[in-house]
Amino acid sequence: MTALEALGAASDRIRTAALDLQRAAGETPKSLADSMAYALDAPGKRFRPALLWAAGEWLGLGPEELGPAALAIEMVHTYSLVHDDLPAMDDDDWRRGRPTVHRVYGEALAILVGDALMTDAFRILGQERRFFAPGAVLAAVEALSAAAGPTGMVGGQVWDLEQTPGLTLEELQRLHRAKTGALIRWAVEVPAILTDRADARETLQGYGAAVGLAFQIADDILDVVGERAVTGKTPGRDAALGKTTYPVLFGIEGARQMARTTLEQAETRVAGPQGETLRALARYVVERDH
Ligand code: IPE
Ligand code: IPE
Ligand code: MG
Ligand code: MG
Ligand code: MG
Repeated sequence: MTALEALGAASDRIRTAALDLQRAAGETPKSLADSMAYALDAPGKRFRPALLWAAGEWLGLGPEELGPAALAIEMVHTYSLVHDDLPAMDDDDWRRGRPTVHRVYGEALAILVGDALMTDAFRILGQERRFFAPGAVLAAVEALSAAAGPTGMVGGQVWDLEQTPGLTLEELQRLHRAKTGALIRWAVEVPAILTDRADARETLQGYGAAVGLAFQIADDILDVVGERAVTGKTPGRDAALGKTTYPVLFGIEGARQMARTTLEQAETRVAGPQGETLRALARYVVERDH
């Protein structure tokens, strides 16, 4: 499958799953249901679900049995974006081509949208017990919690916020590994966790680590060269906030070259015909314009 086909299929499936989620929401306050839908139904790339399904395909799994995990990771990712955009953090007005959640619904509700998406993601992930052994589902829950929490995304966000000018490459890589890499790695690894395939998990971890790093390098490049009409977010925020990025350390061309080298590392991990979609998604990371 090409990257665009994989992303298109992931978008369709996540959209359907998000609509089902809204229908089954029960007694959720209307403002919360509306603002959660505003965040989740927005036109994100659905890159993490696409990766998750491609890793599943690599292991011979179909999309249906990985549906709850794919929705769960998109919910955790979306929560991270809603909080990332808050005035106390990156203070951003645009996300996914729309005004940010706090600009439309206010800060208090934006905090609660994030809380709700994060906690509900774990309920959804628990639905994997329809397809996989309870112990494997618990291992997936534990791994997602580690990837999203203090040793993962949230820890990385703190390094990002607390950074001082002149970060070294090593510090920047540690920050990227946690803030962006951890959730991407989980998306790639979880099919192997659910099927209890330790050998495949190691290979997928290596692929996921490289793709995660390349993804954040590309994001930092797009913050410099991207346009709001295409990326859906305000460019130049990293410079305005004084953040150290790959373009700051190596220039745009240097950063592009490092992203390509990282991509090649990802591709070699998943050589062979069954890795076609994973390789296409790795290439997409560095070629993307949004
Ligand atoms: C943006 O992620 C935040 C980062 C971790 C770099 P995406 O670029 O995947 O954002 P969406 O989901 O497409 O909006
Ligand atoms: C955020 O990184 C990563 C998250 C954990 C949300 P950025 O702050 O660079 O993401 P964008 O550029 O706002 O999407
Ligand atoms: Mg940020
Ligand atoms: Mg940001
Ligand atoms: Mg960014």
